[in-house]
Amino acid sequence: MSKFVLCAPLLLALVSLGQGQKLAATPPMGWNSWNHFACKVTAADVRAAADAIASNGMKDAGYTYVNIDDCWQGKRDAQGNIQANERFGDMKALAEYVHSKGLKIGIYSSPGPKTCAGYEGSYQHEKQDAKQYAAWGFDYLKYDWCSAEKVYKPSQMPEVYKKMHDALAATGRPIVFSLCQYGLTRVWRWGGSAGGNLWRTTDDISDNYDRMSVIGFAQNGLERFAGPGHWNDPDMLEIGNGHMSHDEYVTHMSLWSLLAAPLLAGNDLSKVSPADLAILTNKEVIAVDQDSKGVQGRRVAEEGPLEVWAKPLADGSYAVGLFNRGQSANPVTLQFTGIGIHRAVKVRDLWAHRDLGSFTSSYTATVPRHGAVMLKVK
Ligand code: GLA
Repeated sequence: MSKFVLCAPLLLALVSLGQGQKLAATPPMGWNSWNHFACKVTAADVRAAADAIASNGMKDAGYTYVNIDDCWQGKRDAQGNIQANERFGDMKALAEYVHSKGLKIGIYSSPGPKTCAGYEGSYQHEKQDAKQYAAWGFDYLKYDWCSAEKVYKPSQMPEVYKKMHDALAATGRPIVFSLCQYGLTRVWRWGGSAGGNLWRTTDDISDNYDRMSVIGFAQNGLERFAGPGHWNDPDMLEIGNGHMSHDEYVTHMSLWSLLAAPLLAGNDLSKVSPADLAILTNKEVIAVDQDSKGVQGRRVAEEGPLEVWAKPLADGSYAVGLFNRGQSANPVTLQFTGIGIHRAVKVRDLWAHRDLGSFTSSYTATVPRHGAVMLKVK
C-alpha cells in the first residue's frame, strides 16, 4: 500500500505525459480554409475538402485535419452559446460528415471579443465555447490573438492561452490547440507550457516566393523549441494557389518538411492539379516531416543564395535540403562533414524516388532557380 502511495504521482505523471504525446506527436497534417477561401468559406467548401482528401491520396499520405478558419461564426443565443452563421448552419452535422470520411475537423476562434475578420470571439465565453466545440465534435482549435490586444496586455498572453487550453482539457475531448499570435513575445519559449501543440512563429504567409522563403528560411535557430506534441508553425501551405512556380512550391514543401512544420494545405482541393497534388503527397518527403524523432532541421551551410539544411531522422540517417534562392540554376554541395559524417554514405533523391549511389565526402546537385533538391543520406 505504502509503495502504491509513493508511486501514484509518478504513475499519474506518466499517464498524462503519454496522453499529451499522443496529441500532435508528429506535426499536424491536414487542410485549412483560409489561404484560398478566406471569409467566403462555406460548409459546402469544407465538405468538398474532406471529400477530396479522402479520395485523392492525401488521406493515405497522412492528411487528417479539415480545419475551418475565420468567418464561420454567427451570433450568440440568449444563453450566450455561440452559433454558426448561415453559410455553415449545423456544425454537428458538418463534424459528423468529416468524421464519416475517417478525418478530423478543426475550428477557429480568438481570445478577444472579435476575430481578425470581425466575427464573434471567445472573450469571457472560453469555457462555454470549449464545451460547444467538444459537443459539436471538433478535434482542433486555432486561437488567433487579433482583438485580444484591446483587452489584454502582451505579457498576459501565456495565461490567456492557458485559460483556453484548460477549458479544452476540461471537456475530456482530445483537441489539438494551435496558438496564433504571429510569434509575439517569443511564443516558442512559453507556447508549450501554455498548452499549445503548435504556435505560429511569424506573421501571415502569402502565395509568393519572397514571402514564403523569407518566413521559411528565417526559422533557423528555433529548432530547440520544437518536438513531439509542441511544434513551431511557420504558417499554412500555399501550394496549389497558383502564384508560385513548380520549383518554388517544391522549395515550400521541402523546407516545411525539414522544419517539421505542420503541413496544412491551403488550396482549393476540389480543383488541385496533378502536379500540385504530387508535391503535396510525396510520401518520402512527408516522412521527413513526420519522422518520429521529431527534430526540427536547421541550416548547416550557406553561400550567398545557396543553402544546405539538414534534419536528423529516427533511423540514424539525415534528410538534407539543397536550396537555391538565386536567380539562375547553380550547383549546391553538401559536405558530409557539415552533418558530422566522415565516411562513405548512400544518397537517395526523395523527390525523384531514386538511389543515387555511394559518395565519400560530398554530394553536389544542380538546383534550379528558387528550387530545391531533397536527399536522404544514410
Ligand atoms: C490572421 C491569421 C490568419 C487567418 C486570419 C483570419 O491573419 O494569422 O492565419 O486566421 O487571421 O482572419
